[in-house]
Amino acid sequence: MIEVFPGVFKHGNHLFTRNRVKGKRVYGEKLVVVRGVEYREWNPYRSKLAAAILNGLSVMPITHNSNVLYLGAAQGTTVSHVSDIVVDGYIVAVEISPKAMEDFLLLAKRRDNIIPILGDANKPEMYEEYLDDINVIYQDVAQPNQTEILSKNARYLKHGYTMLCVKSRSIDVVKNPKKVFRESVSQLEASGLKTEQVVDLEPYEKDHAMIISHKD
Ligand SMILES: C[S@@+](CC[C@H](N)C(=O)[O-])C[C@H]1O[C@@H](n2cnc3c(N)ncnc32)[C@H](O)[C@@H]1O
Repeated sequence: MIEVFPGVFKHGNHLFTRNRVKGKRVYGEKLVVVRGVEYREWNPYRSKLAAAILNGLSVMPITHNSNVLYLGAAQGTTVSHVSDIVVDGYIVAVEISPKAMEDFLLLAKRRDNIIPILGDANKPEMYEEYLDDINVIYQDVAQPNQTEILSKNARYLKHGYTMLCVKSRSIDVVKNPKKVFRESVSQLEASGLKTEQVVDLEPYEKDHAMIISHKD
């Protein structure tokens, strides 16, 4: 196992994180034990963050002491790996769907660094009391106004990084995805977020990119 970023491990072309909850799988992933440490395999077809890492993410803003605002938690597939990585930090995880939240709560109960919030990422004022010490915002909501949502939430970021998963078809079904990604970058720059990298997520996710930006 090679540690490619703090808390992120690679063996061959497979990614792993150290399991925070020994013996427990979250989405049927493989568990492996190496020298007494249990790791969970991280599937890039199920998690855009894993896809971005395998596709050459150069700076990994999420590290052992990050406090992450995660928008669009769904059932918690990616959140669970972020929870493995931020051993000394925490995740404020927002999800709008009560159905997805039901499953997500079972995960959050077992992982003491996750604060689950049933809420709308369009309205950060509803959960602003949790945002004081956030230093990374990760967003994966697949909505037409996804850059606007990120800009609204980034107002609560004093300084740090944002990671935006852009699904071009959610913004415009016919427009060339590369054009959609360029326009998203311009909108983020206009709101004070400076682009570090744009990572294409093919072949793991079609017409998706991750935009990594920072706020000084
Ligand atoms: C593509 S899925 C997220 C997958 C998840 N990030 C993962 O990798 O495990 C998008 C999620 O965003 C949620 N969502 C959509 N609009 C939202 C909003 N305005 N606020 C919060 N969550 C939202 C959806 O209900 C859905 O669960």
